[in-house]
Amino acid sequence: MIGVFDSGVGGLSVLREVRKLLPHEDFVYLGDTANVPYGGRKDEHIRQLSEAAVQTLLRYHSDLVVVACNAATSVAINQLRLDYPKLPIVGVVPVLKTAAEQTKTNKIAVLATVATLTSRTYADLKEQFARDLQVLELALPEWVLLVERGELDGSTIRSSVMQVAEQVEAFGADVVALGCTHFPFLRPEIEQAMPMVVVLDSGPAVARQVVRVLTANQKLPVQGQAGSVTYLCSGDPVAFSRVATRLLGETVSARKA
Ligand code: DGL
Repeated sequence: MIGVFDSGVGGLSVLREVRKLLPHEDFVYLGDTANVPYGGRKDEHIRQLSEAAVQTLLRYHSDLVVVACNAATSVAINQLRLDYPKLPIVGVVPVLKTAAEQTKTNKIAVLATVATLTSRTYADLKEQFARDLQVLELALPEWVLLVERGELDGSTIRSSVMQVAEQVEAFGADVVALGCTHFPFLRPEIEQAMPMVVVLDSGPAVARQVVRVLTANQKLPVQGQAGSVTYLCSGDPVAFSRVATRLLGETVSARKA
C-alpha cells in the first residue's frame, strides 16, 4: 500500500503520475483539507501536521509514504525519516536540476509557497544546482486556494497567471519550475500565458523515485488487476470529492480521515 499526502488536493497531481507507472498498486491518498494551506504556516506546525498525516497513512497500512507536498517535504521530511526509520519516504521538491539543465538564458523562475522558498532544503538545492543562475522566486498562495476550490480556469486565475507571466518575461526566465503540487493543475493556463517558456513539474520525477525505492526494497510493482485508491480528507469529504473528481477526470468518493 502506497500512502500519499498533501495539504489538500494538490498531491493528486503526484498521485496521477505515480499511478501511471504503477497501475497495479493500491494507494491511500490523504488531503489534509482541514489545515490547507500549509505554505504560510510555521515550520513546526507543518511538521506536526505532516506527522499526523503519516500516522493516518500508517493506520491504512501504508508501507511507503509519498510526501506529495513541496512545503511539507521542505520542512518536515528529515524529521519524518528520523521518526520512522523503517518507512521508505519519498518527497517532492522543485526540479532545479532539470531547470538548470534546460535554461538557455541562465534565468529560471520557481513558483511555490513561502514555506518552500524560505526553507533550508530549497536553499541547499539552489546552492547545489542553480548557483550560476538567476532565479526569480514567486510565492503564490492564492493559486493554492483557487485549485482547492476547483477553479482551474476563468477570469480570476487567468488574470493572476497573466501577472505572473509578465514578471517571468520581464525577468527573462525561459524555464519555470512548479514548486507546489497544486500548480500542475493550472498548467493549461500557465502554458497559454507563457508560450515561450518551458514549464516543469516534479510529478514524473517523484513517480520514478517511487519505483526506484520499491525496487531497492524488493517490493517490485505487482502485476495483475488494476490497483485501487482510497481517498481520505480531514475536511469536508463532499467538497474534496467534487474537486478531486474534476481534477482527475474520474469519480472520486472520499471519506473523512
Ligand atoms: N501543495 C503544497 C506544496 O506542494 C502546498 C500548498 C499549501 O498547502 O500551501 O507545496
